[in-house]
Amino acid sequence: MSELSALLQEDRRFDPSAEFVKHAHVSDPGVYAAAAADPEGFWANFARELEWMQPWSKVLDWQPPHAQWFVGGKLNVAVNCLDRHVRTWRRNKAAFIWEGEPGDRRTLTYFDLHRQVCQFANVLKGLGVTKGDRVALYLPLIPELAIAMLACARIGAVHSVVFGGFSAESLRDRINDAQARVLVTADGGYRRGSIIPLKQMADEALKETPSIEHVVIVKRGHGDIPVHVTEGRDRWYHRLMDDASADCPPEEMDAEDMLYILYTSGTTGKPKGIVHTTAGYLLGVYATTKWVFDLKDDDVYWCTADIGWVTGHSYVVYGPLANGATVVMYEGAPDWPRKDRFWEIIERYGVTIFYTAPTAIRAFMRWGTDWPAGRNLSSLRLLGSVGEPINPEAWIWYHQHIGHERCPVVDTWWQTETGSILISPLPGVTSTKPGSATQPFPGISVKVLTQRGEDVPVGGGLLALTRPWPSMLRGIYGDPERYVQQYWSRWSNGIYFTGDGAKIDEDGYYWLLGRVDDVLNVAGHRIGTMEVESALVDHPNVAEAAVVGRVHQIKGHALCAFVTVKEGVGHSESLADELKGHVAHKIGAIARPDDIIFAADLPKTRSGKIMRRLLRDIADGKTLGDTTTLADPSVVARLKAQYEDET
Ligand code: PRX
Repeated sequence: MSELSALLQEDRRFDPSAEFVKHAHVSDPGVYAAAAADPEGFWANFARELEWMQPWSKVLDWQPPHAQWFVGGKLNVAVNCLDRHVRTWRRNKAAFIWEGEPGDRRTLTYFDLHRQVCQFANVLKGLGVTKGDRVALYLPLIPELAIAMLACARIGAVHSVVFGGFSAESLRDRINDAQARVLVTADGGYRRGSIIPLKQMADEALKETPSIEHVVIVKRGHGDIPVHVTEGRDRWYHRLMDDASADCPPEEMDAEDMLYILYTSGTTGKPKGIVHTTAGYLLGVYATTKWVFDLKDDDVYWCTADIGWVTGHSYVVYGPLANGATVVMYEGAPDWPRKDRFWEIIERYGVTIFYTAPTAIRAFMRWGTDWPAGRNLSSLRLLGSVGEPINPEAWIWYHQHIGHERCPVVDTWWQTETGSILISPLPGVTSTKPGSATQPFPGISVKVLTQRGEDVPVGGGLLALTRPWPSMLRGIYGDPERYVQQYWSRWSNGIYFTGDGAKIDEDGYYWLLGRVDDVLNVAGHRIGTMEVESALVDHPNVAEAAVVGRVHQIKGHALCAFVTVKEGVGHSESLADELKGHVAHKIGAIARPDDIIFAADLPKTRSGKIMRRLLRDIADGKTLGDTTTLADPSVVARLKAQYEDET
């Protein structure tokens, strides 16, 4: 099948309804041309909607590949997310409506949130944290995580959130890379009815984290989670908060001061600390939350991502709070205690905007339509998707069974590195095609290029960003060379390589095809094959390992590990289980391989490179039929092969 005929197969189009267009923030397609004609002017106009302590003198200083946005400007992110709402009628508007997995509930107004953020900012100061210091956060999805992030932002400390599903070793490595002085954790969290003992795991990590001076423990549990408190080092959050003043003047931050570090997987065994700064990042998430989700003051907005991932940073915390939104937060799993937990939450709080991942949508499809049909979803008015390519079948199901054909669907493409959404429909403007993320956001320049950097006007290639954008990463923490090497060296200096394959169709619509490098997307989580391979060869019985992704109907990809064992070690089911457990222990449960395949040898090129393409074919061959879930898996397979041949 040619690429073109594959594209022509998906010719369904969904236009925004007249009703939606009438009330949308953006309904004029002219915004695209206007922003393209003057991108810096476009961003500057948007930036005027934020609150500045000192105006900028220059919108962009671009010394490829280093950008500075809003040069000379001063502002504080917490002020933009809290103080400016507290001064208005939004003071007692709900900022967070939180629900724990066991069913406990809390609502925090903007006034509440402001008070608690100021108090915790004073707690951090009391522990000696000053501007520029790193604070590690290892917490479940509870309001205290957002409070701690905003408290850091208020005093100019840099947070580094570590997803609560990561292992003690992963936490240790991230703390050490960032050289964090304080760790904020919790006794634990709840997931599918069981307890994740975060403090216990943190204690394991803390044996080898010399930079940590203080640990703050949030009491999430109800006395059912045992905690060991180390005198002199560990303190309870609630006790510290009791004594903390709610008066904390915000630090005046430079536009380019660091806001946070967030680790993400790359093509090497070591996760990269992606650095985001103050003004550009805030602007990117503010603008996209407003326009992509068409966010209004009376919306009830729910992004289901964990705050431990970039989606949670940008679209649970900073983007919606900068817009003064009411944000729903839910701690647990979608199928606990029943498979309609999400729909129950939408019904209970009258959620109007719902943002989730294709992997979840495919699981809902499998569970059947009775679950959503049993709940009142009539409050919904817009649906979003993020994290991986959404196959047209899942898009249509989402549109029909959750959106009841009334809600626009926005498929949003972006990355930890991009900070905010870069390719997405504008719901009041764009005619959507199921499976396509459609168009770059106004002011964003995207191209599909060949390996050699030639423009692909129609067809498949590699996705490139050809101009800097405000919320772009400013670097990899502590590794300036890797920043240049990883993102800006594939083509000319100044063109960013995303690592993704993409097709562009005759209407100029973008179709994301998945990673072409050694990064896998498993259930919407980004996992480096090298990280899993390193964890496997760390096991005493393993000689060599190669990890590839196999197409999986729900998770997008499953992790398939080919392993050769050391002399005298037998291949057994129990060893396979042990290896899976070993990886989960070293990295976290999200990286547990789905399959362990014992091989006598791994296929290699003459230069010794493992022929992953062959392994992928073998892995996929076992599950032919599953490949129908992708629009055209052969395209990405071809791109990957080409990429590997040429790198
Ligand atoms: O491959 C793309 C995929 O997720 C990668 C980025 O992962 P991460 O940094 O963890 O951020 C995830 C949340 C933004 C991308 O390189 N990806 C993300 N969104 C989409 C997507 N692939 C296709 N369509 C999307 N909408």
